[in-house]
Amino acid sequence: MEIKLADISVDFSRSGEQKEEALKKVSLRLKAGEAIALLGPIGSGKSTLLRVIAGLIKPVSGSLSVKPPEGTLGLSIQEPQRGFFAETVREEVAFGPENQDLPSAEVDLRVDWALTAVNLNPAKWEVSPLHLSGGEQRRVALAATLAMKPRFLLLDEPTIGLDSPGYQALTAVLQKLKAETDIGLLVASHDPDFLYALTERVLVLVGGKLYVDTTWGGLAGQEEALGSLGLQLPFLLSLLRRLQEAGAPVQSAQDRIDGAWAELTRLRGIREKGVVGDE
Ligand SMILES: Nc1ncnc2c1ncn2[C@@H]1O[C@H](COP(=O)(O)OP(=O)(O)OP(=O)(O)O)[C@@H](O)[C@H]1O
Ligand SMILES: [Mg+2]
Repeated sequence: MEIKLADISVDFSRSGEQKEEALKKVSLRLKAGEAIALLGPIGSGKSTLLRVIAGLIKPVSGSLSVKPPEGTLGLSIQEPQRGFFAETVREEVAFGPENQDLPSAEVDLRVDWALTAVNLNPAKWEVSPLHLSGGEQRRVALAATLAMKPRFLLLDEPTIGLDSPGYQALTAVLQKLKAETDIGLLVASHDPDFLYALTERVLVLVGGKLYVDTTWGGLAGQEEALGSLGLQLPFLLSLLRRLQEAGAPVQSAQDRIDGAWAELTRLRGIREKGVVGDE
């Protein structure tokens, strides 16, 4: 599948106000199986971009095409509790698959799978989603999206409100989904470490414009430019850069977190053999 945006602009300003575009001529191509990070300062247009792709906001100009058109694009929004309406968590999560006209046995399987995947305590499955904590509500919202088995998962700030076990569980769920399906991921977050563990491609929005479309390795060389925008590299990438600047024999531009760990491990091996410093 392919999602293609061509010169998409979105304008929220009311008539009479000075024009202030939330997205400015954004062009992009997203393909099945890609895992993409969406970074950008507050108010840079990340949520707006996800909403445009999900078809919830109509751009003032430009075009969006999704090919083939069948199947769902699952958007999990920034404040999920605003959308809850069902009486129980189970019913909330079942709503999407029920509307896909699946047999009820299949709906039940999907609900069990999705709520287990997000690690929500089964004692909470029959209570009202409004009576859950913020972190639990985020898990329910993600489960509701996953239960629809979307082709592309659009996540808006999925780590907000999660405690450390919740954060690790979410990372594991998404890594497993990636490994076992060809689902696409587009994840907006202010947490570069979370994104580095999951994605390979990186989009940075600044003031509604696509500032860069690159890889993590490509972004590593732009640490100063990112810093001036108030954005940071993932800790591991930043550490590798510092080590390289200090003369350590490492390749700092690592596209994947596994590669970054491997570089650090290799460096430790070199140190233990006493090679560093001899070079
Ligand atoms: N419904 C709306 N009505 C008017 N302006 C809006 C609306 N939604 C967003 N905006 C404006 O559009 C711009 C982009 O907002 P958006 O929510 O997409 O940013 P963001 O990158 O997701 O920010 P954050 O990091 O805070 O989540 C901001 O200037 C915001 O004020
Ligand atoms: Mg946002």
